[in-house]
Amino acid sequence: MSSGPKHFLDLDLFDTQTLRHILDLGAAFKRGAGNPAPAAGKILAMIFEKPSTRTRVSFESGMKQMGGDVIMMAAGDTQLGRGETIADTARVLGRFVDAIMIRTDDPAKLTEMAAHAGVPVINGLTDSSHPCQVMADVMTFEEHRGSLAGKTVAWIGDGNNVAASWLHAAGHFGCAIRLACPASLMPSATAVAWARARGATVELTSDPAEAVAGAHLVMTDTWVSMGCKDANRHQVLAPYQVNEALMAKADASALFMHCLPAHRGEEVTDAVMDGPQSVVWDEAENRMHVQKGILSWCLA
Ligand code: CP
Ligand code: NVA
Repeated sequence: MSSGPKHFLDLDLFDTQTLRHILDLGAAFKRGAGNPAPAAGKILAMIFEKPSTRTRVSFESGMKQMGGDVIMMAAGDTQLGRGETIADTARVLGRFVDAIMIRTDDPAKLTEMAAHAGVPVINGLTDSSHPCQVMADVMTFEEHRGSLAGKTVAWIGDGNNVAASWLHAAGHFGCAIRLACPASLMPSATAVAWARARGATVELTSDPAEAVAGAHLVMTDTWVSMGCKDANRHQVLAPYQVNEALMAKADASALFMHCLPAHRGEEVTDAVMDGPQSVVWDEAENRMHVQKGILSWCLA
């Protein structure tokens, strides 16, 4: 990575060694072995242009546990909501705070923020990716099953922002990834190409059974991501529900993950969410631990 602020923008911008280091930092924080106050005296500004429960609270708790503090900014309550540019907002915030987390729609806003803030900028989700989530997912898989190398991951449903970050993870961590999505909701071609160029096996299908056959991790996400205005998705995605019958086709050791919030009875059934293969609560908890790793890396 270039010199200057240590941004956490997207997994495809990192070398694997740095991501490994961040995961190890997160695991150490979880064990209580991390530097106790790497954020002492530091302030994180959090800008939300979309709703959030996990991202907001995990960043806030993580930052406070590391001795730092946060400023929460709902975009509509700031001058961003009245047309001040991202670049000008970044220039000002960078004079007040030590890092900025932004959740927004257009990834160009993220890169504009990073170009002008002069302090680390962290991607808290855009329409194109959700790298903090997928770092937590990788951490969760490793805790339960060890290395992802040589494993097969199945993504079922909408080929969305989380799926794109999982394609990046496959390019880094040596797992094969199969995505079963309707033809109209296939994942980012750029992310697919990036993962393949890194040597990952990426299979695209419209058949959920084909994707989960023998898989070691099955994942899905909401059928209607934040900001999506397509009302016809439920019909198109109905065959992509993760239920017990579909899970039964995966490897016997398969885990189920969902970034949450889940829409029970739509993309996933109660039986799977609450069943023995589900690790969704560990996955949610790990958002905080891995973000402590991300924050301590950014702030170092
Ligand atoms: N998974 C996730 O990012 O959840 P929130 O939208 O609640 O932050
Ligand atoms: N794909 C979902 C993830 C929510 C955490 C969305 O963008 O709304």
